[in-house]
Amino acid sequence: MNTLTKPMGQPLDRVDGRLKVTGQARYAGEYPEEGLLHGSVVSSSIANGRVVSIDASRALALPGVIAVIDHTNRPKIASYDESYDDADSAEGSPFRPLYNDRVLYSGQPLALVVADNLELARYAGSLVKIEYEIQPHQTDLLTLQDEAHPAPAELPEPRGNFQAEFAGAALSLDLNYSTPIEHHNPMEPHASTVLFQADDSLHIHDKTQGPQNCQSYVQKVFGLEKQQVRIFAAYVGGAFGSGLRPQYQLPLAVMAALHLKRSVRVTLTRQQMFTFGYRPRTLQRLQLGAAANGRLLAVGHTAIGQTSRFEDFTEHVVEWSGMLYHCDNVQLTYKLVPLDVFTPLDMRAPGAALGLIGLECAMDELACALAIDPVQLRLVNYAERNQNEDKPYSSKELRECYAQGAKRFGWDQRDPEPRSMRQGHQLVGWGMAGGVWEAMQQKASAKASLDQNGKLTVSSATTDIGTGTYTVMTQIAAQASGVAVENVTFVLGDSSLPTAPLQGGSFTVSSVGTAVQQACEALKEKLLAVARQTSPAFSAVTSEQAVFEDGMLTFADARIALAELARNSGEEKLEAQVDAEPDKKREAYATATHSAVFVEVLVDEHLGTVKVNRVVSAIAAGRVVNPKMARSQILGGVVWGVGMALHEETQTDHTLGRHMNHSLAEYHIPVNADIGDIDVLFVEEHDEIVNALGSKGVGEIGIVGVAAAVANAIYHATGKRVRDFPITLDKLL
Ligand code: MOS
Repeated sequence: MNTLTKPMGQPLDRVDGRLKVTGQARYAGEYPEEGLLHGSVVSSSIANGRVVSIDASRALALPGVIAVIDHTNRPKIASYDESYDDADSAEGSPFRPLYNDRVLYSGQPLALVVADNLELARYAGSLVKIEYEIQPHQTDLLTLQDEAHPAPAELPEPRGNFQAEFAGAALSLDLNYSTPIEHHNPMEPHASTVLFQADDSLHIHDKTQGPQNCQSYVQKVFGLEKQQVRIFAAYVGGAFGSGLRPQYQLPLAVMAALHLKRSVRVTLTRQQMFTFGYRPRTLQRLQLGAAANGRLLAVGHTAIGQTSRFEDFTEHVVEWSGMLYHCDNVQLTYKLVPLDVFTPLDMRAPGAALGLIGLECAMDELACALAIDPVQLRLVNYAERNQNEDKPYSSKELRECYAQGAKRFGWDQRDPEPRSMRQGHQLVGWGMAGGVWEAMQQKASAKASLDQNGKLTVSSATTDIGTGTYTVMTQIAAQASGVAVENVTFVLGDSSLPTAPLQGGSFTVSSVGTAVQQACEALKEKLLAVARQTSPAFSAVTSEQAVFEDGMLTFADARIALAELARNSGEEKLEAQVDAEPDKKREAYATATHSAVFVEVLVDEHLGTVKVNRVVSAIAAGRVVNPKMARSQILGGVVWGVGMALHEETQTDHTLGRHMNHSLAEYHIPVNADIGDIDVLFVEEHDEIVNALGSKGVGEIGIVGVAAAVANAIYHATGKRVRDFPITLDKLL
């Protein structure tokens, strides 16, 4: 028995861990059903043009192939046809699979083969013959950067006089960095299992970060009633942003199920995981002007990102450069280049993971140019306020991140001279960078329900994409209710549950956690009311006097089990549901998480191979609900940051307009052997403003700044600046 009276802050094991390691946790593509049909997607091989014809006769001739659905024979779809009426509707509108004959990018789904089993569907797909009218395509951001248009994003207004201060600064640097396309590649590929119900409604197991988002999408697109669509996502095998928007396998599976009045599953192959959203390629220009003492006089950050022809994808790439350091003369610019590609998509710390590469590498270059220690340079320019918003921070322990991170790492032993430290033929480099991410909160609802055995069930329509949501919500509920952890069950991943936002943006603890806490508080009030009515010893006890702990209500010498109160209530269950929203007091403050990352690399002098030997990541994210889960989040972020620095790059053959390394064999990510020691420390940060939990969320801050810290360490090791990411050995030699 694991009875913790104060479960928050404890390193509780994952409550769903056993189910996952024993294979009992079912993922979207694993739900069995008698007579289930399997769909396989046929993708375009050209990047731009039209489909002239689709010949599915050979596929349809195979016994067991039920249907081949394409734009010519698909069922009428409510919102598709509305949009079809509008000549302009393709501009700035979401991608609609099998909409018409237009091919917008290589890999676009053009047909869905439905068969008795997956193998047959895939084989039949290989027999579908598509003829195209090919039109010229553009997929290379580099060649079209002069055609960039301003991104439709709300950037902070320029402040001060950037141009004049930059021109007049004692030292000015004008630097260009570039980052590649990256794909999410969660372990679980996208899948939707649509279970066709007897009453014509749909139960859908979908790989998504937001079941209610997918519910309203399916409802709208197919013109269904809300109660006809229920989306489940009990377990999600990683997502990182790839499940924020409904992915095309969902409408395809629904289309087939409605058309055939059968249950249908559509799973994407690993290669097809490269046929939708991704982290966009960016070109970044950093202009820093500084006084001789290191004070920043001018900061300019221009980013150009790629987008599709049909949507303008924006993220926060450059904003961080106006807030991480104090500077009165700032100019931020963000542009987009539409290409014949799919629309990019949020990927872990969207924008920040990119923009901080430019900013934090440039700060390192500035430190070197001024012969100031990189940590010292950051302290000289420490921002007490968020100047973008002109607000103080609700809390900001970044100084402690620098100090504690540096101490743990042994930064004071660093010789600033590049190539000055070595172990045999390995050049040793020490680099650092800072990180920042927003601490957001969204509206969310939760329901708490106590049964007559004292078991508490708390629910909300959020998801757990591997982040530990099941576990931390269990802890928050246990602490807020006084029910022991082992008697608490948290239920999520079902669109019929109380409203929750997407799991994303690192705001789930803040948003759903607050709702869970408030639902449990409301439940306690109900329990106390029952106690006052039914138990004389509690007749005059106030909420402040009542103590809820270990499944008991206590006041002075009187104790009563919460289970007994549930029984005494006359109801089968005692329930409380709340709608929580961000507290008004947040409005006067900027809220953010911060990090300081210290990295040691070993670079082979002769081969140019880079090994990230040691990382210390010091994080300020408010109160940590579960240090074990939180540490895992940061570890994952650091590993990904190492990948951004050294490995990850979706390579596009611009002649074909097609991603070439679309497999986990050729799309490089760090493996165990690439990862050295990672030390995560959470600095104490008290925040009464951000929410009642004092907790800011740790899903994304772990990746921010890591790639820059690795790049800075490589410079320190080798004396060579590589500004084109990833830093592969050919660029180093
Ligand atoms: Mo995250 S990119 O908000 O899943």
